[in-house]
Amino acid sequence: MANSSIDKQKNIAKHIAIIMDGNGRWAISNSLNISKGHSKGVEIVREIVEESVKQNISSLTLYAFSSENWSRPKPEIDAIKKLVVKAINEQVSDLKKQKVKLKFFGEIEDFGSKILSKIDEAEASTSQYEPVLNLNVALGYGGRQDIVNLTKKISSKVKDGQITLEQIDEKMISEFSSSPVKDIDLLIRTGGDRRISNFLLYQIAYTEISFVNKYWPDFTKEDFVECIDNFKTVSRRFGKRI
Ligand code: FPP
Repeated sequence: MANSSIDKQKNIAKHIAIIMDGNGRWAISNSLNISKGHSKGVEIVREIVEESVKQNISSLTLYAFSSENWSRPKPEIDAIKKLVVKAINEQVSDLKKQKVKLKFFGEIEDFGSKILSKIDEAEASTSQYEPVLNLNVALGYGGRQDIVNLTKKISSKVKDGQITLEQIDEKMISEFSSSPVKDIDLLIRTGGDRRISNFLLYQIAYTEISFVNKYWPDFTKEDFVECIDNFKTVSRRFGKRI
């Protein structure tokens, strides 16, 4: 399999993705405004990033805002936009201390020039060292939209004669995806639902999935380590007879 990301000797999860679901229900169950659920969610992100560094994870990819989230009420969207800026302002210096490299991906241009320049600044200032952890944040991301976009890009290269049809392979599809990570080892979804919700569709072909029956604001470092430990016990066969 192209770009296999497994430490085969120890079955260690190197590339982890998380669908951080349940902020809204957590807020409602605690009689709080929905935006408080999201701000508590950002605190949990900080803890899970710290733990990822401790656990020697190579990349942590977070689903912060999906293409479909644009249909939420405007006040909630505005609160999430503000939170992204606040998280950057408050957390970039800690990310730098930990040698974490931040990367946003998805249709981020839809978030407007103010957020885009914040993102550019944060990415530039966390790219000055050899990273201990790559922290990728999906914003305005949809797996299907990603596949449509990469198909258009590859098709236009074929049309212009820059590549031939025969050159299109799995590796090329991966490279044209906006996702910085090509194969996810472990996907964690909090919130109790057991679905993918249009996250990294191409990248999860052989991913192990942990569904956690807790809202994201209640997710702890211990829960995270438990998911990582469970992954170690899984026999990953990639369709082979071994
Ligand atoms: C899912 O909960 C969470 C979101 C749609 C937003 C998550 C965003 C953040 C934590 C802030 C941005 C993060 C970073 C890293 C800058 P939900 O609202 O769908 O929960 P529900 O299913 O209970 O309604």
